[in-house]
Formats: sequence, C-alpha cells, structure tokens
Amino acid sequence: MPKKSTSRTQKQLVAENEDLRARLDEAEETLRAIRSGKVDGEQIFTLKQAEDALQKEQGRAQQYLDIAGVMFVVLATDRKVILINKKGCEILGYVEQEIVGRSWFDFLPQDEKDRVAGTFDQVMAGEIERMEYFENPILTKSGQERLIAWHNSMLTDEAGRIIGVVSSGEDITERKRAEEALRNREGMLQKIFDILPVGLWLADKDGKLLRGNPAGVKIWGAEPQVSPLEYGVFKARRLPSGEEVAPDDWALVHTIRDRVTIVDELLEIDAFDGKKKTILNFTAPVLDARGDVQGAIVVNQDITERKQAEDRIRRQLEHLTALSVIDRVIAAIFDLRLSLSEILNLTTKELGVDAADILILNSNSSTLEYGAERGFRATAVRKTQVRLSESYAGRAVLERHLIQIPNLRNEPNNLFVTPLVIDEDFVCYYGVPLIIKGQVKGVLEVYHRTSLEPDAEWFGFLNALAGRVAIAIENATLFENLQRSNSELTMAYDATIEGWSQAMDLRDKETEGHTQRVTEMTVKLAGVLGLSEAELVQVRWGALLHDIGKMGVPDGILLKPGPLTDEEWVAMKKHPTFAHEMLAPIRYLRLALDIPYCHHEKWDGTGYPRGLKGTQIPLAARIFAVVDVWDALRSDRPYRLAWSEEKVREHIHISSGTHFDPQVVEVFMQNPNLM
Ligand code: C2E
Ligand code: SIN
Ligand code: SIN
Ligand code: FE
Ligand code: FE
Repeated sequence: MPKKSTSRTQKQLVAENEDLRARLDEAEETLRAIRSGKVDGEQIFTLKQAEDALQKEQGRAQQYLDIAGVMFVVLATDRKVILINKKGCEILGYVEQEIVGRSWFDFLPQDEKDRVAGTFDQVMAGEIERMEYFENPILTKSGQERLIAWHNSMLTDEAGRIIGVVSSGEDITERKRAEEALRNREGMLQKIFDILPVGLWLADKDGKLLRGNPAGVKIWGAEPQVSPLEYGVFKARRLPSGEEVAPDDWALVHTIRDRVTIVDELLEIDAFDGKKKTILNFTAPVLDARGDVQGAIVVNQDITERKQAEDRIRRQLEHLTALSVIDRVIAAIFDLRLSLSEILNLTTKELGVDAADILILNSNSSTLEYGAERGFRATAVRKTQVRLSESYAGRAVLERHLIQIPNLRNEPNNLFVTPLVIDEDFVCYYGVPLIIKGQVKGVLEVYHRTSLEPDAEWFGFLNALAGRVAIAIENATLFENLQRSNSELTMAYDATIEGWSQAMDLRDKETEGHTQRVTEMTVKLAGVLGLSEAELVQVRWGALLHDIGKMGVPDGILLKPGPLTDEEWVAMKKHPTFAHEMLAPIRYLRLALDIPYCHHEKWDGTGYPRGLKGTQIPLAARIFAVVDVWDALRSDRPYRLAWSEEKVREHIHISSGTHFDPQVVEVFMQNPNLM
C-alpha cells in the first residue's frame, strides 16, 4: 500500500471495504444455508473459499485500521482493550501486546481514570446514554498527557445487548494548544486595543464603523456607530488648508474603495463633546488572503496639545521677530508718526486684533492726543483729544496699569463708550499705559470686534509692545529737541554771518549787493556741479564771508579810487589770510573756510595767498572765483567803472585754464541763467 498519497489510500480502502462487505454478505448467506441443511458440495467449497477470503479480508481490515489517521480502540464491557490499531499504539507509545487485554483506564491520567471508568461502567450497564462524542486525555508511556477527541459507537449482540464499544480517537492536543494560543493572542490584542493611547477604529468592508477603542472614543467624545453614508455626522477640516471634509471624502472611504493606506493626514475635528481637536489620522485597509478588502483600520492620534505647543512656539518666534522689526523701525525712523504707524501694523497683526491706536500724553494740558491708529472705521479717532478723567485711556494713565473691558456693551452708556460701540462695533478694549523711566508718555489701546480670550502670552506681548512704543515716543521727543536746538543754532549762525557780510558791504559802499549776488550765484553753480545739500550750506556761508578778511584792510587802501601801489597790494593780498585767522577758530565754519581763504588762488598757480595750483585749490573756491570776478567786473568799483557783459564774458573765457578751472568756466558759460 503506497503511503505517500493518503487520498489514494483512503479511496482504495473504501472500495476494498465495499468489496469485503459484499463477500461477508455472501459468506453469511452460505452459513445460513449450511445451518438450514440446504447445502451442497459446491456450496461447501464456496463456503471454504469464503472463509479463506474472510480471514484474508480480516487481515486487510486490520491493515485498514492500521493505516487510519485516527486511533481505534475496541473495549469490552469489562473495560478491557480488545483491539487497538497502530495509530493508537503510536500515540500511547506502547506496543499492541502491552495494551490489549489491559484495562483501558490504565492509560488515562490518574485524576481522570476513576471518573471516566465509572461513567464507562454506567454506560455499559445501560444506566446512562452513551456519549457519541467527548474529549478526554490519555497518558502515554513517557508520561505525557494527550488530549483525544473521541467518537464512540456501541457494539451489541444480536439480541441488542451491549457487548462493548468501538471508539475512534483523534489527537487534538496540538490543535487545542493552537486554539488556546489564538485565544490568548486575541485576549492580548483586545487588551492592546483597550489600553492603546491612540484612537483605533475598525470598519467593515462597507466602511461601517464597528468598534472604537476607549482612546478613540475619548478623542471623538462619543462612540459613533455610523455607516459611510452618515459620515456627515463627523465634522472635520483638513489642515493646513482648513477645508471641510466632505462625507464621501473621508480617508476611510478612499482606503476601502481604493485599498490605499493613508498616513499622517492632519485634521481639525469637532468632537462630539463640543471640543475642537487636532488629530493625526492614519487609515489602512484590512485585506484577506486573496487581497480583497475585508474592512479598514483607522488610527487617530490626538496632537492638540502638541499642535498648541508648536503654535505657541511659532507665535513667540513671530513676536520676537516683530519686536526686533519694531526696534529697527524705532532706530531708523525719526518721524514719530511713521514709526508709530509701523508699530501698530505689527500690533494688530501679531495680537490678532481689529484695531489699535496710540494716544500721546500732553503733560502741559493733561490731555491725551492722537498719535496713530489702525483699523478704525471712522476717522474721528484722529481728532482725539481727551481729558484723563474722560476716557479709559485716561484711567490707564492715572492708575498706571492695564485697563481691560471684555465687553463694552456692558459698560454704562457714556460719551466715550457710545461711539466705540455704535460707530466702530467694538466689543472689547485693552489700554496699556506707556511708561518709560517712570514717566507716562501715553497709552496703547487695542480693540476687537468680537470677544477675545487672551492668554498670559498675549498680555506679555502687549506689554512688550507698549514698552517699545514708549521708547519710540521718548526717542522721538529727544530727537525733536535735539533737532530743534540744532536748527536754532543754525539759524543763529546764519543771522550772524549775514550780519557780518552786510556790515562788510556797507563799508565798501560801491560793492553793495555784491555779496548777496555772488552767494546766490555760487550756490546755484555749485548745485549744478553736483555738490550735496550739506556742502551747499558751507558754500553759502563761505560765499557770504568771502571778503571778510577785507575788515583788516585799511579804508585808505580799500576805498582808494586809483590803482594800488606795491605796498598797498601787499596789504590787500593779506585779506584771505586775515579771513583764515578770523574764522578758523570757529569750528562750525571750518568747512566754510575754503572760499574766504582760497578765492584768490589761480588755476595756473599764480594766485595768492599760497600759490595753490589746479585741483589743489578747493572746488568751492574754484567755483567762487569765477562768480566773484564776473560780478566784480560787472560792477562799478572805486578804482574803475563796470565792464560790459560782452567784455566780461570775453575776459572769463580767455582766463579759463590760467586764472580759472576750465571745467567750472564751461559749466558757468553754459548756464546763462546764473549770470
Ligand atoms: P574786487 O574789487 O572785489 O575784485 C575782485 C577780483 O576781480 C580781483 O581780484 C580781480 O581778479 C578781479 N577784478 C576786479 N576788477 C578788475 C579789473 O579792473 N581788471 C581785471 N583784470 N580784474 C579785475 P584782485 O585783482 O586780486 O583784487 C582784489 C581786491 O583788491 C579787489 O577786490 C579790490 O578790492 C582791490 N583792488 C584791486 N585792484 C585795485 C585797484 O586798482 N585800486 C583799488 N583801490 N583796489 C584794487
Ligand atoms: C480712542 O479711544 O482713541 C478714540 C476712539 C474713537 O474716537 O472712536
Ligand atoms: C474715546 O472716548 O473715544 C476714547 C476712549 C479711551 O481712550 O479710552
Ligand atoms: Fe577777495
Ligand atoms: Fe568779491
């Protein structure tokens, strides 16, 4: 019998069994014939044949039992084993001779044998019904217990009396262990399901949610037993877009339909307990061996707190950035209105408020005056001038601390609340005094058109902003004062200088108006030649003072109607040096000195007092020289009458490159409006 193919063996056995039964029937028929005497020689021969066959077939039957995959035991009513097949011996670990004839119950574990034997006896005695199926353990020779599943069948004699039992037993020890292991594993999985700190949902292949673990139920605030058609009962938005998740657009729906795994989907949900939460969603299909979708698993991780922490950090970073921007604004912009307006841009943005303004304290009049605003609908705020007793801002100044009105509508109707509520629709108000070096400079006010629930961090930032605004106001005030004293000084100098030059013109009656004219022309020409505003201020002063040195030239020489003697020329040529001596000690005029000191130097180096040449001569002086000679020749002098324009033009032209810087002459000639 080939052992390699069980199925073939079993098939053959079934066929042989049928064959055997047919032969036995035949033999029985023959036996009956013998008993009834109706038998002949041929029949006896047949009978003999049948007996032989029977014996042979019994041998085969034994073989049949032996190759069976299950154990067979036949017990007599006295508990003794009549027959056991090879598989039975194999399982028990004994040889057939050690088993047959012994009480079957010797092969049961000690604690089982008496009870089972008792039941067996009762069944054999017909006192209780036989059991067709039960499971009980046997004890092997090596002392192991094996669990056997028994199927039992009564053996009866012709009269129907019980003569024994035939049982087939299957060793189910391993299967039971596997089942138990499976049960344990399921228990473990259930435990994990229950204690897992992430939300877990199981859905069937139609997307119907079957089960949620406690963490999942906690996240959503309820256990929703809903079908996919009802996903609308869940409210969620995808982050960062904030787009509402449509009922047929849930990750779970896609997962089941397309067998896709969706990881790290970020959702903001409206939980059933009314809370907004941020969750990480993970969905994966559950596939069977053929790859068909059997359902899906959804994992929810509540990251609300993590998200809040991240948001907080991001906000703090933004706030720090905003503050550093403000610091730069304050340092760079000297126009207070402009820097306050920049600060308010950042204030409303970073605090997330609808409007804000800055009122500056006028300590003379004890009023708060408009400084800057942002976000107001009406322009009335720009005319604000309130007395301290008549406003929240005033209260902030007087009490020197934050005033907060969470709901302006709950305030008594009065002159200053009404416009805020009626015209501006504001709901809440916060006013922070702007204090620096112990002095209140004003108030920073913020308004919002819905209620706010600011946290400590928000107030911290509001205070930081107020500190910056106070610095900005303080800085601007200092700068303004400095600027004012600066310009006062400038004006004083200007007046002084003009006074000097006028005094000079008065002394030299004939040159009246000369200084004013040359100053004007020189500044214009220097402007055309590209000198800066700051340089032009110095050029102007230099021109005004160009002949200040003539103060040191005696009247007899200065006002002499005729040509000068050599001696007189020596005195006259000292006037630039005198100017230098007079003006050099005045720091403020040091840069203006070029013209008075160098206006008689010549391009070819033949001028005085130092004989400078070309670009050694300061540009301002080179420019001025052209203008000065132009105006001197166009005017009457005590020593000669004025020249015609034509003649002067000719003179300037031919002196280009000797007396004058040719470039200056060129520009001067090209700008007839200067003359
Ligand atoms: P200023 O009268 O203001 O003249 C300024 C410059 O214009 C002179 O510098 C000279 O470069 C030019 N300039 C003025 N008038 C004439 C002129 O008739 N011919 C020519 N070619 N150039 C003229 P400069 O020469 O260094 O003279 C400096 C100052 O000396 C003059 O200032 C004036 O106060 C005085 N000065 C010059 N020449 C005479 C003179 O003949 N008699 C008197 N009393 N004073 C003179
Ligand atoms: C203010 O509080 O600064 C004035 C607001 C307004 O006039 O509406
Ligand atoms: C106002 O009366 O408009 C100003 C209120 C305030 O400054 O607190
Ligand atoms: Fe001069
Ligand atoms: Fe002059």
